[in-house]
Amino acid sequence: MIGNNQRPRRLRKNGLVRNLIRETELHLNQLIQPYFLTINPEAQEPIQGFSGVYRWGIDQLSKKIEKDITQGLNSFLLFGAAQPSEKNEQGTAAYEEKGVLPSAIRTLKERFSDSIVLASDVCLCPYTSHGHCGLVEGTEIQNDPSLVALGQMALVHARCGVDIVAPSDMMDFRVGYIRNLLDEQGFDQTLIMAYTAKYSSNYYGPFREALGSAPKGDRATYQMDFRNKTEALRELELDLAEGADMVMVKPALAYLDIIRAFKERSSVPVAAYSVSAEYQMVKLMAKEGLAIEQKLAIENLTAIRRAGADIIITYFAELIASQGWLK
Ligand code: PBG
Ligand code: ZN
Repeated sequence: MIGNNQRPRRLRKNGLVRNLIRETELHLNQLIQPYFLTINPEAQEPIQGFSGVYRWGIDQLSKKIEKDITQGLNSFLLFGAAQPSEKNEQGTAAYEEKGVLPSAIRTLKERFSDSIVLASDVCLCPYTSHGHCGLVEGTEIQNDPSLVALGQMALVHARCGVDIVAPSDMMDFRVGYIRNLLDEQGFDQTLIMAYTAKYSSNYYGPFREALGSAPKGDRATYQMDFRNKTEALRELELDLAEGADMVMVKPALAYLDIIRAFKERSSVPVAAYSVSAEYQMVKLMAKEGLAIEQKLAIENLTAIRRAGADIIITYFAELIASQGWLK
């Protein structure tokens, strides 16, 4: 006899047996699709280096989301954008009530009400002339003054009816600050999805192209060093204590260990943001004929779920829905 009588292959013998013992499921309910907004209501502008992703005008986006809903996709994360002429040192366009993002939130929630879950990005980088996520004095990013601006932005979004505010700036104490402010103003039902461990990563290129938000210098004094894990656990403790409703790891694929660690320690749902370059790498592989797009995308997203993510933010969500990749 060769070896022993252990034969794991019995459990792989045919498709139905394999289905029966599958450990990880990926479902549209767990996916959030990011969308970028732009000012012209009829726009659907392609973005250089970000295949199949667009800057949307509100009229076009509204139609797109209507289609997404019929295909089973219901959750969206919106990013605003500012024209270069609207940007300034203080990023004041971020909390302009008539801005493209607050207006879009209002329109979409009026139209779709609770048949969508709408999240909004809360950050200054698309609106500051220096491109940083916080306010700058000299060469320093000012933590506490930034909280005031971020709080205003979150409040404007809450007033427009957003379901979830998602602060992506990585300033200290922004979750607690925003929670207190929203509660004081009567928005105790607005959720906060915290970018808890957001790394200073090389995977953000196509996104920065989309928003024109590349910073002068880098984000190393606020985003985390990709060499660190213990530090992420500290951020997790703080965000939970400050009242985050969901905690997030970003990027996802190169950070599966962080996702797993969060899942083991978190008392709230764990989200993972599979970022722009993770998406674009799959697109480029497929374009070169080196992989089948659908299969590679589903493998990556399933791995992120297997690591422990309850929720995944992915640019593939609308394609998965429209192409029926999970059917
Ligand atoms: C910054 C922000 C970034 C992303 C979303 N918000 C990264 C950055 O510019 O540092 C990246 C998302 C992606 O690449 O898909 N607030
Ligand atoms: Zn930012």
